[in-house]
Amino acid sequence: MNSCIVGLQWGDEGKGKIVDILAEHSDIVVRYSGGANAGHTVIVGDSRFALHILPSGSVRPDTICVIASAVVVDPEVLIKGIETLAQKNITLNGRLLISENAHVVLDYHKKEDQLREEALGKNKLGTTIRGIGPCYADKVGRSYSVRMADLRDLEKLKAKLQSIVDYKNKIFAALYSAEPIIVEDIFEKCKSYADKLLRFTTDTTEFLHKSISDGKSILFEGAQGSLLDLDHGTFPFVTSSNSSALGMPAGCGVPAKMVDKFLGVSKAYTTRVGAGPFPTEQDNEIGQYIREKGCEYGTTTGRPRRCGWFDAVGVSYSATIGAIDCIALMHLDTLTGLKEIQICRAYKINGKETTFFPANATRLSKAECIYETVPCWEEDITKVKDFHDLPLNAQNYICRIEEMTKKPITIIGVGPERNQTIFR
Ligand code: GDP
Ligand code: IMO
Ligand code: MG
Repeated sequence: MNSCIVGLQWGDEGKGKIVDILAEHSDIVVRYSGGANAGHTVIVGDSRFALHILPSGSVRPDTICVIASAVVVDPEVLIKGIETLAQKNITLNGRLLISENAHVVLDYHKKEDQLREEALGKNKLGTTIRGIGPCYADKVGRSYSVRMADLRDLEKLKAKLQSIVDYKNKIFAALYSAEPIIVEDIFEKCKSYADKLLRFTTDTTEFLHKSISDGKSILFEGAQGSLLDLDHGTFPFVTSSNSSALGMPAGCGVPAKMVDKFLGVSKAYTTRVGAGPFPTEQDNEIGQYIREKGCEYGTTTGRPRRCGWFDAVGVSYSATIGAIDCIALMHLDTLTGLKEIQICRAYKINGKETTFFPANATRLSKAECIYETVPCWEEDITKVKDFHDLPLNAQNYICRIEEMTKKPITIIGVGPERNQTIFR
């Protein structure tokens, strides 16, 4: 059985926790898009892991971990991730495979990301400054890109880096009056990346297809969320990859029809980091309550997350474009204690009601939410194990979301720990 886990909102839905739980029954976990902009939290007993590039299955000692072709690999973050796990006696030797076709994020990408954001001032996108946009731009542009396979021939790479650095320095000087980057510094780092990472680097597409033929069970781990998808999200306030379920086949070379189940992950409310329209945002005491109770601060950047009500229009859209089979609804516990809860069931845009999410930031910014108000609950639900033991108002809230999204909610999160999870 192969499954794909994908975020249905603007990221941070709790994908890491779900992947970690489901990895127990999987042989292989595959990261297929994005880069170190992701921050997936996995909690195992007293240990808390923030995974940025390594798949969330990596904390389980027997799980094979694959970083597929469309991931942009920041070697520094990856090496640090491998070392952090090693300090906890979790080794990735013999069970980590990095695609030789994955593109490499280098220092000049992060510098370019930062300079561009600074230059945009109040119009900035609010990126994670992890070099994601510039690295994917170089990939699409082709002439100035570095792939993992390029680390195999350091002499050839040195010449390539020289031409890239000459080009980048012209841009840095002309557009930003910034200090030049030094090619020798980048090259020295690449030598150390080659030393530490080439032993993991291989043809992951061949590996995945062989594994499927051998009957192995694969879990595909999405990063970011569907509404941050480059082509189908709230452009330009998106990331630079196809972070919806649509990115899975292209991201790892495995067709979607080889996946038995697409599981979408959503919070019982909505959060967003970075700029862009957010119709259900509660920039008030309700948003503040959710932020503090849900610890809604970025795993990667520490930024406070913007918080708001559950948006059935956005989640239904993500579920539709991703042909999602079922939903995991996380952070139900965070809503406990509110007086009442609102669910956005439709938008009104230019006087017209719609339930289809407009993936056009200008139209979306005009959306007025049409809410349905439902009662909340006061009981502590963090130890509940069975759906029917949830307060009736919590059960009704879940059922109402199922009706609006037309998808079954099969997993419910009632706390950050592995065992704070209800299966239906
Ligand atoms: P991801 O990027 O989708 O993996 O999500 P993040 O790890 O960035 O953010 C989710 C946060 O919520 C993490 O701190 C998790 O430990 C936490 N979390 C996950 N599920 C639940 C839940 O059901 N309830 C609570 N209270 N916290 C949760
Ligand atoms: P996970 O996998 C939440 C957001 C950034 C910014 C936009 C573009 O943990 O859910 P980028 O650095 O990608 O160019 O930034 O995308 N963003 C995320 N928001 N969770 C993430 O990942 C994100 N990855 C990128 O905040 O708004
Ligand atoms: Mg995250």
